Amino acid sequence: MNPAIRAVVRTALQHECRVVGINNGYDGIFDGNFEELGAPLPVGMLDRGGTILQSSRCKRFYQPEGIDAARNILQERGIQGLVVIGGDGSLTGALELTRRGLPVVGIPASIDNDMAGTDMAIGVDTAANTIMELVDKIRDTARSHRRCFLIEVMGRNSGYLALTTAISCGAEIAVIPEYFYNMERVVGLLHERFQKTRDNSIIILAEGVCDAGTFIQRMKEANGGREFEQEVRETVLGHVQRGGSPTHFDRMLGSRFGELAVTGLLQQETGCMTALSKGRTTFVELEDVIGRKKHPAPELIRLARNLQIEFGDPMEV
Ligand code: F6P
Repeated sequence: MNPAIRAVVRTALQHECRVVGINNGYDGIFDGNFEELGAPLPVGMLDRGGTILQSSRCKRFYQPEGIDAARNILQERGIQGLVVIGGDGSLTGALELTRRGLPVVGIPASIDNDMAGTDMAIGVDTAANTIMELVDKIRDTARSHRRCFLIEVMGRNSGYLALTTAISCGAEIAVIPEYFYNMERVVGLLHERFQKTRDNSIIILAEGVCDAGTFIQRMKEANGGREFEQEVRETVLGHVQRGGSPTHFDRMLGSRFGELAVTGLLQQETGCMTALSKGRTTFVELEDVIGRKKHPAPELIRLARNLQIEFGDPMEV
């Protein structure tokens, strides 16, 4: 998020606008936690993970009265346009503020990549690269000891990280919330790999399906309560996935989205979100994307199938 904040500030100053940062998410509006940004120009932000403005899950924004109050505070402060950077919750708040007459442009930022209307959100690429690096390291033990590793990654309702890192790490199995996993096939595949070639296996599990311990338990149950021939170990990657220096892609995406958001506000755009579509940045209406479920792209599903990753059956089946 820092490259996006940096780009917002620099672009706004370039157009002789004043920029005020709101610290600690929507809570900062109620707490008067405002900070003038941009004198001097922000430096040293591109390589820092997280957000210098800090973030919170603001309960007051769940109530219409809370959003009314926030709109009033912002208007009293003379805020003429707002850039909101965040995931589904933050952007739902952005839409509500727009409906109350405040010009707002959203920037999608969630490692889950679950925002409809954009191919990518800020942070996804950095998280995916972190996972890839860690799975590669775990694979070394898996190979040396011929073990099966179940690796739990983030993704509350979204299997994007699990499925794409299964592809980039050459995992045998991905378990994602959008598809029903087929435990019989999972167990069969592990037997086959071990018996035929004494091969190791990697399973990448999105946390939205269940936790790693539960999944291993279910694997054992499907195996008739018996242990597997190869040792099965679990690793939960946790919050290491959400931190670290942004990748080149994320620094570019944050910069592009931040610059576009301010350019849009200056051209009277409001109620929209910056988006990446077919490699180009654009705007999509918040009305069209909030609350809409993003499904894995068909070409990603085809790719995973053709690369022989086991990831279950579509929910419709
Ligand atoms: O929404 C993004 C996300 O990273 C999810 O994948 C994960 O379940 C959640 O945030 C973790 O949130 P918290 O840090 O509040 O536990």
